[in-house]
Amino acid sequence: MFKKNNIPTTIVLLGATGDLVSRKIIPAVFRLYKAGQLPDRFRVIGFSRRELSDADFREYIQGTLASVEGTTPELVSAFLELVYYSRGEFETQEHYASLATRLTSLDDEWSTCSNKLFYLAVPPKLYETIFRALAASGLSVPCGGDDGWTRVIVEKPFGSDLHTAKALDELLGKLFKEEQIYRIDHYLAKEMLQNILTFRFANNLFENIWNEGSVERVHVRLFEKLGAESRGAFYDSVGALRDVGQNHLLQMLALATMDQPREWSSVAIREKRLKVLEALRPVGKGEMAAQAFRAQYEGYRNSKGVDETSTTETYFKVRSALNLPRWEGVPIIIEGGKQMHESKKEIRIVLKHPSPCFCNLPDGGHHKNEIVIRLEPTEEIEIFFWAKKPGLVFENELRTLHFHLRAGDEKERFGEYDRLLLDCIGGDQTLFVSTDEIRAMWRFIDPIVAAWKKNTTPIETYTPGSDEIGRRSSFVDQFITHQHTQDMKKQIAIIGLGKMGGGLARQLMEKSWRVIGFNRSSETTKALEQEGMHGAYSFQEVIDALPSPKIIWLMLPAGDAVDTALFAKGGFASLVSKGDIIIDGGNSFYKDTIRRAKKLKSKGIIYMD
Ligand code: BG6
Repeated sequence: MFKKNNIPTTIVLLGATGDLVSRKIIPAVFRLYKAGQLPDRFRVIGFSRRELSDADFREYIQGTLASVEGTTPELVSAFLELVYYSRGEFETQEHYASLATRLTSLDDEWSTCSNKLFYLAVPPKLYETIFRALAASGLSVPCGGDDGWTRVIVEKPFGSDLHTAKALDELLGKLFKEEQIYRIDHYLAKEMLQNILTFRFANNLFENIWNEGSVERVHVRLFEKLGAESRGAFYDSVGALRDVGQNHLLQMLALATMDQPREWSSVAIREKRLKVLEALRPVGKGEMAAQAFRAQYEGYRNSKGVDETSTTETYFKVRSALNLPRWEGVPIIIEGGKQMHESKKEIRIVLKHPSPCFCNLPDGGHHKNEIVIRLEPTEEIEIFFWAKKPGLVFENELRTLHFHLRAGDEKERFGEYDRLLLDCIGGDQTLFVSTDEIRAMWRFIDPIVAAWKKNTTPIETYTPGSDEIGRRSSFVDQFITHQHTQDMKKQIAIIGLGKMGGGLARQLMEKSWRVIGFNRSSETTKALEQEGMHGAYSFQEVIDALPSPKIIWLMLPAGDAVDTALFAKGGFASLVSKGDIIIDGGNSFYKDTIRRAKKLKSKGIIYMD
């Protein structure tokens, strides 16, 4: 049972009369209230443009509860007592001052400083305005020592690319500490995805085969029957890859492929997810046509809010790999689409066939096993395996084992938002996305979006509700076996991103290397980040981002610059370890190189020029 966190808490819903609040947040808060999971002293304050009184807002909230199971008039009236309203325009500073006054007077009724949870249920373009206004009105500061924390919940999309995500983060970082920021990806709270960690790490059945030795490929899929519906304007500005690829699909992949965390803690779990996301091999420019397919369903351009010449994708399939020894050479496929023939959300782990194989198919076919972790249409794990067909003839047939997550007698069903709100109140960030994860995901997605913007691969169309597009994009699934053999080694840091260093970084990325780049002036680094490079802003960040043995390429002017990078305080000589390689790619005088190599050799560092 969840341990109730019993400190008085106030949740402020910014955008209180919007769709998210009525569909997801209020029903979740109500279910938690009904289950006795909220603190004994708890309040909801709506903040929104509409001119409403507390009573009007309560009436509005009552309407949103109609569809929630198990409501009774008594419960609803008791719940509505917890609900308040403070009118406000997001751009008007005085309205935040009124909100602050209202919060203080409500706290005074309790004679306490309650926890404040600010939930930004608003379009991302308003985030910056709201963050600044919250800070200017003093609302971002906790009111009383340990007793009253302040936390903020933000929804996806967090930025529209690496650059904007970083800018948002920098702004947030000035107002809140990372422990106060809760970035939602509601997929992380899906029961079946949480279950992956238990399935993998609480059993000894599968983990030993969960690697390149046995796995042929990993395919993560998010198909929806719905189209852009009423969200045309928003959807058209993001497209399928950024709507569900950059977040939900990559998080599903991370959970399915991450290493076992050293302990069951938020920090340890997020660290392992991050390791996978950072190891995603960027799709090189030259590989786009073969590995990043996109299409749009017919009729999409006639949807409300959608540009009639739009080239926004509603379907994509991308193939990549993970630069990790455990997954060396295993193709990773992420695929998502709207207006598909079925709603299917799943992770498919396809295993290699045994060798030699006791395969006994009449056609001598390839015997694969598959483990499917499925979220929709049913929450289940399905294992495909081969068995002898009963009868006189020795013939194998494909059979399945099923595990259904929900027992039929389950009393109370909590949703993703219930879980996320409770975790946020309890201070557990495990199911929220860290800033580093957000950055790693954008780093992988940005080059694909950029290539599509340049129309390097023309967008195709598909018939809504048919399954043709999956077949037409099947060339993306095809393996090019030789290409993966060197993947795990294809990671390098380049120090100095001038004409030579920058060019080198681009060339390597083109050939699918993961490049970590550092430059004295950060503008150059930022520009290359847009092309898929992992930007580092200190030598320590370079070291943290590189797996061992580390390869560091110095592309600096000959002379002092090289000595400083190596031997000054905080230089690479003090940061690298035995077995790491440093390459001087500049024009150093050979005697300088010999001197430096001797110095570094004593530490077991390989120095090349
Ligand atoms: C959202 C996307 O994040 O996830 C939607 O913006 C998508 O386009 C939805 O439909 C899918 O979530 P779920 O929980 O319905 O699978």
